Amino acid sequence: MLEFSQHQDRGFGMSAYFWFEGIPFAAIAHKREIIEGSRDKFVIRDEDTVIVSYPKSGTNWLTETVCLIQTKGNPKWIQSVPFWERSPWIEFQDGYLTLINKEGPRLMTSHLPFHLFPKSFFRSKAKVIYIIRNPRDALVSAYFFFHNTKLIDNPESLGTYFEWFLKGNVLYGSWFEHTRDWLSMRGNDNFLLLSYEDMKKNTRGTIEKICDFLGKKLEPDELDLVLKYSSFEAMKENRMSNLNLHPEAVNINCLVLMRKGVAGDWKNHFTVAQAETFDKVFQEKMAGFPPGLFPWK
Ligand code: A3P
Repeated sequence: MLEFSQHQDRGFGMSAYFWFEGIPFAAIAHKREIIEGSRDKFVIRDEDTVIVSYPKSGTNWLTETVCLIQTKGNPKWIQSVPFWERSPWIEFQDGYLTLINKEGPRLMTSHLPFHLFPKSFFRSKAKVIYIIRNPRDALVSAYFFFHNTKLIDNPESLGTYFEWFLKGNVLYGSWFEHTRDWLSMRGNDNFLLLSYEDMKKNTRGTIEKICDFLGKKLEPDELDLVLKYSSFEAMKENRMSNLNLHPEAVNINCLVLMRKGVAGDWKNHFTVAQAETFDKVFQEKMAGFPPGLFPWK
């Protein structure tokens, strides 16, 4: 109840959320004790691989790719097991429980911001692959994904969602803070930074980078298979990859994961004023990073 009145004070009517350590989580999908347990109790092991991203950055495309690398391009696994079981989510109850009972090297996924990520990771040799995407595209993608669901308060227009996004009053909080904090891991041997844009432009090269990072060697024909089965079209058709079977997604509403799959769609949706405002905020909040680190314009 205290949490609820705190949302009201923020002036956003954010009843779809509960807040934990400054971050809005979805009241109908997340559980406070699991978020807390993810940070304080969840044990990441040296042999684990974690895919981490801010929402709508190409997370599931990366998951599909990593799964296919593990099977050397054989699609049997991705076509028979849904992605949330192949790479369970740390911060959702189902994923958390699956993971703590799983032996051997684990593949897992998370959108958690740096300060809420399992503390055990920072004492481990586990690998994190962090994927970033132009936040303008992540914003547009999130708006179309979430706006008719009960996961977030209905923003009613992209303009309203745009305001919330810049303030960080959206699921998982501010893109700027998420990205700044996670980028502090750059240069660590167990951290690989990827971008949606590079992955679109040079998919094969990105797969090779992931293979190097994970210590996997694929033959050229195996790499062709990874490319084939992780394509937008293949994932859209694969019921194990497109959310059509996810029990909660079905309950919440029809969630379309595979929407457009392009870079730069924000240009079709932002007004000139919004584009200028976004540029200004981006420059302020991301000052200090080397030019060229963010591969979009
Ligand atoms: P759009 O809404 O812009 O189409 P996430 O997995 O983090 O939720 O990200 C979802 C975004 O990744 C969506 O973007 C989706 O279309 C895009 N995506 C998913 N699979 C893809 C693929 N194989 N190739 C390109 N984009 C993909």
